[in-house]
Amino acid sequence: MNFSNRLLDWYKIEHRDLPWRHTKDPYIIWLSEIILQQTQVRQGLPYFLKFVSRFPSVHDLARASEDEVLKLWQGLGYYSRARNLHFTARYVSKILNGVFPDNYRDLKSLKGVGDYTAAAIASFAYEEPVAVVDGNVQRVLSRYLGIHTPINSTEGVKEFKLKAQEMLDASQPSMYNQAIMEFGALHCRPKSPKCMFCVFQEDCVAFQQGIQEELPVKLKT
Ligand code: ADE
Repeated sequence: MNFSNRLLDWYKIEHRDLPWRHTKDPYIIWLSEIILQQTQVRQGLPYFLKFVSRFPSVHDLARASEDEVLKLWQGLGYYSRARNLHFTARYVSKILNGVFPDNYRDLKSLKGVGDYTAAAIASFAYEEPVAVVDGNVQRVLSRYLGIHTPINSTEGVKEFKLKAQEMLDASQPSMYNQAIMEFGALHCRPKSPKCMFCVFQEDCVAFQQGIQEELPVKLKT
């Protein structure tokens, strides 16, 4: 069985039931991804629920004062995220008439939306076959493929993006992207990965060589 089939078999059994996985609404997906940047699901979830309930549409968020948005954001940190969130909501509401861009390239033009977030929205909302690359994805791929290039080097960033795109199951980009991130978060963890119960034991280069805890390599900055 290939990587994607094994991964998706694991995902169908083990995934967490998270609210943003039940929608194709780009606004809700964008909101969830901004909240979850540099933030654990456990910490971000209550904020997500609070924001969706107070601002069900991008117009609701656009109409709010910056003060109210920052107040609701209190405790999450990285307040530039909240300011960009509000700015982009106003832009989408007023300039784009409430319609989010429907592809990776145009999504990236939104303030606060980088490579990762654009790929997440494009794949989750529109099934565009573009791979997400975050720390979870880099860890899974570095171990499975035995990649020692530092994830935070210029070369590494390029290499992991390329590999991630090669591995992507283009027939179901949304589920594949959710699955590889979930696998990194729950199974192929930074410390004590669950290799003893892993569907990839046979093919994982790191497990075969017993070096899973040494990967990924990260340069001290
Ligand atoms: N962290 C960032 N995005 C996520 C997502 N879509 N699901 C779970 N955790 C995430």
